[in-house]
Amino acid sequence: MTSTPLLTDLPSYPKLQALASTLKRARIDQFFIEDPLRTDSFRVQAAGLKLDYSKQLLTKEALTLLLQLADEVGLQQRVRALVAGEPINSTEQRPALHSLLRAAEGGALDAEFRQVCVTRERMKHWVDRLHQGAHSGFSGQPISDVVNIGIGGSDLGPRLTTEALKPYQGHIACHYVANVDPTDLQDTLSNLNPASTLFIVCSKSFRTEETLANGLVARQWLLAAGATAADMDMHFLAVTCNREAAAQFGISANNCLPLWDWVGGRYSVWSAIGLSSAIAVGWPNFERFLEGARGMDEHFLQAPGEANMPLLMSLLEIWYCNFFGAPSQAVLPYSQHLKCLPEFLQQLTMESNGKRVTAQGTALEYSTAPLMWGVAGTMGQHSFHQWLHQGTSLCPVDFVLPLTTHSDKPEQLRQLVANCLAQSRALMIGRSESAALSTLLRRGFSGPEAKRLAPHLVMPGNRPSSTITFEALTPETLGALLALYEHRTFCSGQLWGVNPFDQWGVELGKEIGAEVLDQLMGESNPSDDQTDPSTSALANAWKALN
Ligand code: F6P
Repeated sequence: MTSTPLLTDLPSYPKLQALASTLKRARIDQFFIEDPLRTDSFRVQAAGLKLDYSKQLLTKEALTLLLQLADEVGLQQRVRALVAGEPINSTEQRPALHSLLRAAEGGALDAEFRQVCVTRERMKHWVDRLHQGAHSGFSGQPISDVVNIGIGGSDLGPRLTTEALKPYQGHIACHYVANVDPTDLQDTLSNLNPASTLFIVCSKSFRTEETLANGLVARQWLLAAGATAADMDMHFLAVTCNREAAAQFGISANNCLPLWDWVGGRYSVWSAIGLSSAIAVGWPNFERFLEGARGMDEHFLQAPGEANMPLLMSLLEIWYCNFFGAPSQAVLPYSQHLKCLPEFLQQLTMESNGKRVTAQGTALEYSTAPLMWGVAGTMGQHSFHQWLHQGTSLCPVDFVLPLTTHSDKPEQLRQLVANCLAQSRALMIGRSESAALSTLLRRGFSGPEAKRLAPHLVMPGNRPSSTITFEALTPETLGALLALYEHRTFCSGQLWGVNPFDQWGVELGKEIGAEVLDQLMGESNPSDDQTDPSTSALANAWKALN
């Protein structure tokens, strides 16, 4: 694997720095006055999605230089290496073949693709069996509820997919339990009937503490309700790379669906990790979800840079993070069914690119992976939009907007759409001091009072956003949307020179967690070299009450 150059060493980097310092004084709304056709130039479409990025603090010159940056880093070769199955995850010496999970053919990766196809067949078998009522629990009742037990990538993708595709929901209800906080599982189980509940323990490693703890409690819940150890096969499926551990847990080989080390957890919704969502919406809809993602894959591989949606979104991420110092970015889906999208993207982008060294281990002196956050609109308008409009940090926004609704209240959708469009416009145009003054005078404030209040109404504007629209939130558009952000994350990782497919940073917390657990269970206090006074005092406070 060739070593990745540092972003700051690329020839276009200083040119972009110079341009950014000029553009810091430019106005987005002015760009539209200078070029009334700007929207046409800064708009692309792919796989049923449209990206309008005309409300960005971006000129054609800046875009050309950003595209050069991608060329200089050798992005096209990196993309080819990704899809060819080269060990692009260099620290773990593994490929990252999530695109193969939704492919229609394997090409040179035929051996892996055959495993994917066999697993798809097994998933379909389980989905159909459950839908036909052909799989029963220990008392002979058909399964009515499925509980996915998993965390991180073994939870967020299927949770989002099930929620997003609610209008496609069949008669089996799917629930998601991730947290080791016992109330998560307890609250979920309190409404369920053990005799008709199936658990899917999703864990790539089958070593994740939270998932195993919840799995054991689920097992006890079934036993307490009258199931025997021999009945467990009726109530547990596993999805994992670690068949031995699943077998030790008591899940038989027939009930264990495979995952492979070439699928990263946060890229795994397309694999059997997505089984619960396939059960929720039925197999044909899950296939449509894969097809949507495949459409985005094809676009990503074929479209030239200036029309390539994932690449353009990645370049915008780099632009604001590295040339404008934006510490965060928001994603605001104006769709209640997409309320889980920000959390999913948080893991995707921050676990992938939240790295401080290059793939070769060189310490970075520039920022990577801005904080990704957001909630479904319009909720944020009544909490943090104040900060977006008048706060002191730059935070580019991605608005995500389905243009039709599955609900029978289209007039309410009109309100939602109006809010979304108004927010992106307000972020861009802002409000000047003189406009603030006139507003206050119109509202009946006296001259001096209006003058006193006007600075508080001033909004600088010039806050960039993109809007991603699609006709409707369907399995296809959802698949395309998630694949879009996956590829965007990959491109940004390459530009920053980091490995987006490992996550070594989560390990120390797990190790210390095990030590602290010992301390909490132990009679004696740990010595000073085993812990620190603050952690000791906090542990003792817990011990005093438990
Ligand atoms: O601890 C982080 C992590 O490894 C994520 O990368 C992963 O998605 C999650 O934990 C769950 O891991 P597993 O699927 O192995 O239980």
